[in-house]
Amino acid sequence: MESRKKAARYERIVQQLEGLLTKTADPVARMATVAAILSHKFDYFFWCGFYMLKGEKLIVGPYQGPVACQVLEGRGVCLEAVNRKSTIVVPNVHEFPGHIACDSRSNSEIVVPVFNVKGEILAVLDVDSREFGAFDETDATHLERIAGLICQRQLITNDHQD
Ligand code: SME
Repeated sequence: MESRKKAARYERIVQQLEGLLTKTADPVARMATVAAILSHKFDYFFWCGFYMLKGEKLIVGPYQGPVACQVLEGRGVCLEAVNRKSTIVVPNVHEFPGHIACDSRSNSEIVVPVFNVKGEILAVLDVDSREFGAFDETDATHLERIAGLICQRQLITNDHQD
């Protein structure tokens, strides 16, 4: 997807999400909303969702797409993003040592950490594509903004303090 068009679409999505994520600060409700919006808006998102960090494992959370691994442990792109505390863009998953293939049709991937208000990792946002090299800096920048909305309390409107 052309970079400027992609950036403009992300801008609209962030605005839409800021309007939607006002009803509850519950992170799982917000993750479900983000997964639904992203997978609906981008054709090249084959799998899109969250894994929750529980100790040293990642347990699947809200997602859209084909059935995925429920537990990730020991290796993989998602755990690597947790260890590095930063976003990882993988243009070709078959060349990433330790990659966990939940679906053999995935060829590229991006994983973005989700931080809680204390700055600890709560989860990761993971997106897979059937295209090679589907994700770039534009995806990284905007998906990091979107991951930042999950624990942002200021979004809650006065009628919906919880
Ligand atoms: N590929 C990921 C596993 C999760 S699936 O892509 C949905 C990884 O290597 O951690």
